[in-house]
Amino acid sequence: MNILGIETSCDETAAAVVRDGRKILSNVVASSLKEHQRYGGVVPEVASRRQLEFIQPVVDESLEQAGLTSADIDALAVTKEPGLIGSLLVGISFARALSAALDKPLVEIDHVKAHVYANFLAEEQPRLPAVGMVVSGGHTDLYGVRDFRTFRRIGKTRDDAAGEAFDKVARVLGLGYPGGPVIDRLAKSVPETTVSFKYAALEGTLDFSFSGVKTAVLYHRQKYGNKNHYPVAAVARAFQESVVEILVIKALAACRKLKVQTLLVGGGVAANSALRQHLSGEAHKKGIKVYFPATALCMDNAAMIAGLGFHSLN
Ligand code: KG4
Ligand code: ZN
Repeated sequence: MNILGIETSCDETAAAVVRDGRKILSNVVASSLKEHQRYGGVVPEVASRRQLEFIQPVVDESLEQAGLTSADIDALAVTKEPGLIGSLLVGISFARALSAALDKPLVEIDHVKAHVYANFLAEEQPRLPAVGMVVSGGHTDLYGVRDFRTFRRIGKTRDDAAGEAFDKVARVLGLGYPGGPVIDRLAKSVPETTVSFKYAALEGTLDFSFSGVKTAVLYHRQKYGNKNHYPVAAVARAFQESVVEILVIKALAACRKLKVQTLLVGGGVAANSALRQHLSGEAHKKGIKVYFPATALCMDNAAMIAGLGFHSLN
């Protein structure tokens, strides 16, 4: 069964064709990221205007790359929520119109759950039940995942999302937007750091809080002033270590609580090299198998929407 997925929740316009929830035939992403960079974050009005322009060519391209025509599509899947409303509206309106025109069913998908599903777009199929951890620019959530339709949220951030903290800290350090990839790179350039930032433990819960560590970096930067050369890389590394450490602690605590041996990580921050390394090592010690999607599938994409869409069709 060929599913055409459409995803327009943030700054990307994405379309993909996935066969039987698993085999990616095409995965096209157009982004307006560059236009947002000078503002230090995504400008919703700019994003949705671009999506209106990009949506038709991106969908056409996804069919072409898959070697299919619209007649070969069996069903459509589109991101319903969460996201920027103007952006979502472009994708949903387009998908509903195409579904009516082709007379093919349409399923509307939760973008956050689709980030967890990205782990199934691979040869090896993880075993369920599992814990799903979504770490993105908008979310930091823990789920109990029983099957593809049963996601129970068991933890969330109480303030900033992990990716949002990376982006805000990068801004404080003058590193530009988005912050995650540049902090990841910079952190590798220093073997260790004497700086350290405490994480919020929120003991006894599976919730997160990242606004404290973000503010700690801001104060550290302000205290330093202009007198000396500021150790940007060391601070970036210390910040990243703090975020990674609490993500590892909570993810493993969630597995322990639900008594599951599979951990599925997704979202943009799942591309972080320190998180991948540290979490893999710690999970292994506990006999937990941890999965990360390929880097391109950590970021916003439509293949994960088409994939989960396959399992959501009645
Ligand atoms: O999932 P995503 O593409 O979009 C949302 O749904 O939010 O995630 C984007 C977020 C941004 O905050 C970005 O800074 C972060 O993912 N990110 C990273 C890395 N690559 C992207 N954070 C840490 N390390 C990375 N390597
Ligand atoms: Zn996302």
